[in-house]
Order: sequence, then structure tokens, then C-alpha cells
Amino acid sequence: MYKLIAFDAYGTLFDVYSISQLAESIYPAKGKQLTELWRERQIEYTRLVTISDPNPAGSRYYLSFWEITARALRYSCKRLGLLLSQAQEVQLMGQYAKLAAFTESTEVLKGLRAAGIRSAILSNGSKEMLATAVESNHLAPYLDQIISVADIRLFKTAPQTYGLLLDHFPVARQEVLFVSSNAWDVVGAGWYGFDTFWVNRHALPFEEIGPPPTYEASGLIEILKKID
Ligand code: LAC
Repeated sequence: MYKLIAFDAYGTLFDVYSISQLAESIYPAKGKQLTELWRERQIEYTRLVTISDPNPAGSRYYLSFWEITARALRYSCKRLGLLLSQAQEVQLMGQYAKLAAFTESTEVLKGLRAAGIRSAILSNGSKEMLATAVESNHLAPYLDQIISVADIRLFKTAPQTYGLLLDHFPVARQEVLFVSSNAWDVVGAGWYGFDTFWVNRHALPFEEIGPPPTYEASGLIEILKKID
């Protein structure tokens, strides 16, 4: 049975939909396109930084996820020909500090706590970003650890990032269930050797490379059945 359930943050425990809503209100009819490109670029930059210097002591090109996110936003606006004022950047970035958790996030974390199973966040997010999201959604009492890749200055899917879970908890690889809504994150964690739970909220196809998820569901709540 699993001794640790580890969660990705953005899109998995925290709902990023409010970001596209805000983008849509600033750039009517372009919000969705902007948000998609922004997210793509954000992840692209994390990979660029990591692959270009995959040093276990950290990439010399490392920038915090906050900084990477801001730069990805600037690029995406330029690419789409959208004017981004300083105030708009502050507003869009500020939305990251206001993300709501999915209602089921609290329920699942409470359920794990009741079942005596440890839980953690493992995210690309900077410590400040994660702390704000956890605090404002009152999730801290139900999480054993909030782990940021900032500690090792590499991003997912570098194996060392998944290894942080084994550094923080006295558990074996096969006792960890890693939960993410990002298929690529599920691939990375699966390659690392964790069992995986893919939260497929938008009925997307899974990636064509890597091990398929151990479990797949349209929401988080199913996790509670898997640990029963
Ligand atoms: C994270 C991003 C990848 O929280 O969603 O790590």
C-alpha cells in the first residue's frame, strides 16, 4: 500500500482557470490563446534551463518559477501582438497568488490524513508561490511537506526533482503514488519509478511516450478509492 501521496500543484490541487478568465477580460477573444501559449512557454523555459545544464548541484541557468512565469508571459504577449503594461503584468502574475484549490483537493487531503497516509506537494513552483497558495486555501494542516524544486535548482522532469520526495520521507520508491494533471509530469514520475495517478479533467489523450499512468480519473476524489 502507498505510504506517501505526492501532488503536483498547478492544475492538480490548484485551479488555474481563473488565470484564463482574467486574461480574457484583459484581452477579449485572446485570453484562451494567451493562457495556453503562456503555460506552454513557462514549461518550455523550465526544460531549457534544466536540459542545458543538468547539473545535480543545480542549473547555472536556473531562474525561479515566478521569474520564468513572468518572462513566459512577456514572450507570449509579444508573440501574439498584445500590449502588456507593467500594471497588467502585475495583475496577471498576481492571479497566481490568488489561485483557488479545487474543492475536492481539501476533501482528498483530509481523507488521506484520516487514513494515516502522508501527503506532500512536489512542484516547480517557488517556495513563496506555493506557500501563498497553500495558506490562502487553508491546506497546510493536511500536508506533511511542501516541496519546491527550488532546493535543487532544476525543474521537473529531472529525476532529482522526483527524488526530493525520497529525500524528505522515509519511504521506498514503490510506496509513493504521484498525482498530476499534467501528462508529461506523469511520464516523468513514471520513468522515475513511482506509481502515478493522472487527473485527466479535460478528457485528453495520454502522451505517446512513457509509461501509461497506473490510474486515470477525471478528478482527484478517486484517489481515496485507490488507497482503500
Ligand atoms: C507544478 C507545475 C508543473 O506545480 O504544475 O510543478
